[in-house]
Order: sequence, then structure tokens, then C-alpha cells
Amino acid sequence: MAFLLPTTLAIIALVFSFAHAFDPSPLQDFCVAANDPKATVFVNGRVCKDPKLVTEDDFSTSGLNVSGNPAGGGVSLNTVGADRIAGLNTLGISMARVDYESGALAAPHSHPRGTELHLVLEGTLEIGFITADPSNPTKNRLYAKTLNAGDVFVIPPGLLHYQANVGKGKATSFNSLNSQNPGTLLVPSQLFGSVPTISDDILSKAFRVDKETIQLIRSKFA
Ligand SMILES: *[C@@H]1O[C@H](CO)[C@@H](O)[C@H](O)[C@H]1NC(C)=O
Repeated sequence: MAFLLPTTLAIIALVFSFAHAFDPSPLQDFCVAANDPKATVFVNGRVCKDPKLVTEDDFSTSGLNVSGNPAGGGVSLNTVGADRIAGLNTLGISMARVDYESGALAAPHSHPRGTELHLVLEGTLEIGFITADPSNPTKNRLYAKTLNAGDVFVIPPGLLHYQANVGKGKATSFNSLNSQNPGTLLVPSQLFGSVPTISDDILSKAFRVDKETIQLIRSKFA
């Protein structure tokens, strides 16, 4: 190992530098999540239930005919992951019904491990995501569209995006994500509501405003 050629090292570095933005492929037909509160094993997903004990109910759920839990900003989330469909464990997919009150905003956020497909079922949403120019990360471009019932919009994995109800009444969408656990980074509360807090000095430099303005914004996230 001590005498590896530089080219060999370069190839090894290349092979191991590929980022996996998608869930790994499963090694079995299914791995229904075991409902074992005493499990102390942490794996990439949940530990599997004995396949002999698996039934069709492990692959099904109900209740997406109604809105879910308030998630702030007038948005309610009714999410389906391995907690609701145990058989979804390791399959690299999840979904959510999202309901928007009039004027609601799903504030800028990203899902670090998932691409997201929005299907608008009712109402009118403005959905947009932002990319950075690879040659100049301070140059950003917004891709935004106003969508009505039946329209679909895709958010590339990890990119910052938002959804705003710009119609007159309520709106509803169904969103699918190609990860069992896509993660959510909600930018305003991450920056202004973290524990412990990011210092006023750092945020005032980042946003090019005085510290009083930062404190005012931070007070809204307390
Ligand atoms: C939604 O579906 C559930 C379960 O299938 C059912 O019990 C409930 O009555 C339905 N609610 C509405 C408002 O349709």
C-alpha cells in the first residue's frame, strides 16, 4: 500500500468522491420496519421485521383524504414515511399531502436527500427553486412558476425552494420524494432560531445589516 502509484491514488480518490444523493438500493424485496422500541441497532433505515410476520397491512396507510398537522406559515403537512407505512422502509420513497391556508407560505427550505415532485390538486401555488452558477456561487438564478390544479413541478435534490399560496382560497398539493428520509432544512429558522444562536456579528455580516436588525428578526423566531 505504501507504494501506490499517483494514478492509482487518483482513481481511488475519484471512485470514493461520488456523492450519493439518492437512497441506497435495497438488498432484499422488502425490509418492513420492526416496531421494536427496545432496538438499539442503528442502521441506514430501520431494522427489519421477520418476513414471516409481514402482512399486506405493512404496505398501506389511510388518512390522506384530510389535511395534516400545522407546520407553520399556514401550511399543514400529512406525511407518509416508514413511521406510517412500515413496508416503505429502505425503498427510497416517501410522500406528503400539503395544505395551504389562504396566503400561506412554505418558507425557503431544502431536502438534502431528495428530489421533490409537486402535484397541485386544488388552488394556485407559486413554486420556485434557486440555483447557483458553478463558476460564481454569488450569482443565483430563480426558476419559479405559478401552478394550478393538475400542474406538476419538480425540485432538484437539495436545492433551496419555496411554495406560496398565491390564489384566492385554500390550496392542496401531493408531493413525492425519492428518499425515505429526505430531511428538511428550513432556512429562516435554521439561521435565526438555532440553539445555541449564531452570533449577531456573524449574521449581521452575512446579511449586510446592523445587529439591531438581526436582533429584531431573531426575536420573531424565539
Ligand atoms: C378519511 O378517511 C378515513 C379512513 O379511510 C375515514 O375514516 C374518514 O371518514 C375520511 N374522512 C373524510 C373527511 O372523508
